[in-house]
Amino acid sequence: MNIARVDYDGLIPNNVALGQDVRVKRALEKWHPGYLNWWNDMGPDGFQESLVYLRTAVSVESKGWAVFDYIRMPEYRWGILLAPAVEGRVVPFGAHKGEPAWQEVPGEYRAMLRRLIVIQGDTEPASVEQQRHLGKTAPSLYDMRNLFQVNVEEGRHLWAMVYLLHKYFGTDGRDEAEGLLQRRSGDVDTPRMLGAFNEKTPDWLSFFMFTFFVDRDGKLQLEAQAQSGFDPLSRTCRFMLTEEAHHMFVGETGIGRTVQRTCEAMVQAGINDPDNIDAVRRLGVIDLPTIQKKLNLHYSLALDLFGSEVSTNAANAFNAGLKGRFQEHRLKDDHQLQNDVYPVLKLIDGEIRRVDEPALTALNMRLRDDYTNDCNKGVTRWNKIIEAAGIKFELALPHVAFHRHIGEFREVQATPTGEMLDEAAWAKKKDDFLPSDADGDFITGLMRPVVEPGKFASWIAAPKVGIDNKPGDFEYVKIV
Ligand SMILES: [Fe+2]
Ligand SMILES: [Fe+2]
Repeated sequence: MNIARVDYDGLIPNNVALGQDVRVKRALEKWHPGYLNWWNDMGPDGFQESLVYLRTAVSVESKGWAVFDYIRMPEYRWGILLAPAVEGRVVPFGAHKGEPAWQEVPGEYRAMLRRLIVIQGDTEPASVEQQRHLGKTAPSLYDMRNLFQVNVEEGRHLWAMVYLLHKYFGTDGRDEAEGLLQRRSGDVDTPRMLGAFNEKTPDWLSFFMFTFFVDRDGKLQLEAQAQSGFDPLSRTCRFMLTEEAHHMFVGETGIGRTVQRTCEAMVQAGINDPDNIDAVRRLGVIDLPTIQKKLNLHYSLALDLFGSEVSTNAANAFNAGLKGRFQEHRLKDDHQLQNDVYPVLKLIDGEIRRVDEPALTALNMRLRDDYTNDCNKGVTRWNKIIEAAGIKFELALPHVAFHRHIGEFREVQATPTGEMLDEAAWAKKKDDFLPSDADGDFITGLMRPVVEPGKFASWIAAPKVGIDNKPGDFEYVKIV
């Protein structure tokens, strides 16, 4: 069969010859109604009948893999798509480096692999739940469509992980697949597994921050798992990364357009001082210091997703050949790291110091550093927008010790520039660093829906180009 082509004949589109795999096909068909119930209960609130101009994957080739059309979201063709197999692929790192990549789960690593897949899987529906009410306050039809595109694809990513669970993990896999539909973001009794996925996404700036920072954590995790010696996981993640690029784009351009609109309004009104917050807010745009606070919040929450800087779990997953480093295949070393070190920021006697740790246990730190580099590219682009407007203000990522709940700095407080604070000073200054209730209320007040094609809310600029090269006044969502 042609692996690049996706079979759309059956109930579940796929390129894994599901028709010939009766057991897994039945298991997925049984899981399907529960998924649809979850989508109807927890997916976008209020737009399930609307026609949304969405892309659907029809191939796994790097070029021309998607088609665009108007679809009702519950009718989206969620499918199972693996990137093409690489002939002769070997385990690229760890103790099994050079052995043929595994097509079945290696028995000794079964529990570890299952946990990796379940944690990844849990994040996918969580973000849909977090974003479910945002359609009602979309700043334009263009943005609304992007939100729904991200949502249906996170749904597909859940399918991707559920396929692996059903195909390779028997009864436990089936139970885990059920669990993925049962946990709920923010629920007191059955929350999602990771902190950032239980936070609220109360407004559209939060959504853009989420897709920029938290989806980017997803990108880094997928990159690390795309290196996996367990070939089905590698191929699954490789294709998910193709979709994930759009989520990153939505976040980066969403924040960029917000920054741009603020700068335009300031210039037009002759306001030079970015700290003149009241005057800027009266223009119906979000002041730059508040955007910085939102950035502080979302970046620090995202850093927590990488886990402890020093971690034996990370070392074990690498040694086992299950989870590699960011772009492992491009790194020039022995890919086993038994004798290497990596610098880690640690808290020693109340001071932040860089110390060398064994590279294997420092893998979370390393992935987090790659993540920070990736984030900084976006920050640089936003700062160019501010600079071009002639406004003296620079956005910056906060220090790693700022507002952390996991890892070395979880028990201390620090400013965004990394100066340590005692609890009293932190309590006093917290609202200067993180969005306050008043900031939240102001942003919420701006979130009025704009549903006329080609029109945008006061606080955000129009995009430079449309989706699928559509003109500016294209009706991306036909609201029913
Ligand atoms: Fe995803
Ligand atoms: Fe995503």
